[in-house]
Amino acid sequence: MPQGATEAEFAAWMGAIQMRVEAALARSLPAPQHVPARLHQAMRYATLEGGKRVRPLLVFAAGELVGADAARLDIAACAVELIHSYSLVHDDLPCMDDDRLRRGKPTVHVEYDEATALLAGDALQTLAFQVLAERMPEGDAALQLAMLNTLALASGSRGMAGGQAIDLEATGKTLSQAEIEYMHVLKTGALISAAVKLGALCAGPCPAPLEQYGHRVGLAFQVVDDLLDLEASSATLGKTAGKDSRHGKPTYVSTLGAARARQFAEELRSGAHAALESFGAGALRLRQLADFVVLRKF
Ligand code: IPE
Ligand code: IPE
Ligand code: MG
Ligand code: MG
Ligand code: MG
Repeated sequence: MPQGATEAEFAAWMGAIQMRVEAALARSLPAPQHVPARLHQAMRYATLEGGKRVRPLLVFAAGELVGADAARLDIAACAVELIHSYSLVHDDLPCMDDDRLRRGKPTVHVEYDEATALLAGDALQTLAFQVLAERMPEGDAALQLAMLNTLALASGSRGMAGGQAIDLEATGKTLSQAEIEYMHVLKTGALISAAVKLGALCAGPCPAPLEQYGHRVGLAFQVVDDLLDLEASSATLGKTAGKDSRHGKPTYVSTLGAARARQFAEELRSGAHAALESFGAGALRLRQLADFVVLRKF
């Protein structure tokens, strides 16, 4: 297929999954009029109609590779996106990054208030586990437990929350490359790796090369996020650009400089492709997503 046709076909696949996940998220969130309505509205505001949905796309791409059932992938994709949305709500709070713009809209604490943002994040987090526990269509209970465990590990103090703690502690300091890598693998890599693993677990145990792929794409994702903070505009990103240097955040850009950070992202992209070699044509979407993560402009 010529390059342009392949790109158009990938964009169509992405659009279809994004729409499917939007509908699944809308179904899994409490109705906006359900008491306490303000909390439920804030949860929906934080989650619906926004974001690239990279983690759900990875769930589906990994799931397609192993022949997983689409209804199970819907649930896994919702669970990981609910955790991600919660992490953004809390990341933006004044006690953390103090951001006012997210996904092209005012952040949840600006649109509602801080206490509501805190609770919306808490409730999105528990909803993620509830969805995995009660909505997963009939299947292997051991795999379902493995999915719950995977998501819990990736979200907690040895995953995203731990990485966020390191991020806050490191603000205003200089970190070595190894320390930056550890922080990024936890704060962002863990949940992205979990998305790949959850997609695989919808059908069976996760093959080791897929875990390697997830690790590389997850780290690449945050390296590129650091680059975009420097290189892109707030309008393109839908969030405030240039804030990492203003806030004194150690990033790949502050540690390596933009050119070497870009080169490192490219190495991770090649590494992600290499991890997929044994899978052949079935891993097309995962290859395309590794490219998307590294080459994206937003
Ligand atoms: C932003 O994640 C926060 C990071 C983990 C770097 P995304 O870039 O995936 O944000 P959305 O979901 O597309 O808004
Ligand atoms: C956030 O990293 C990672 C999360 C766990 C949410 P950033 O603080 O760099 O994310 P943005 O740039 O605000 O989206
Ligand atoms: Mg942050
Ligand atoms: Mg932030
Ligand atoms: Mg950032």
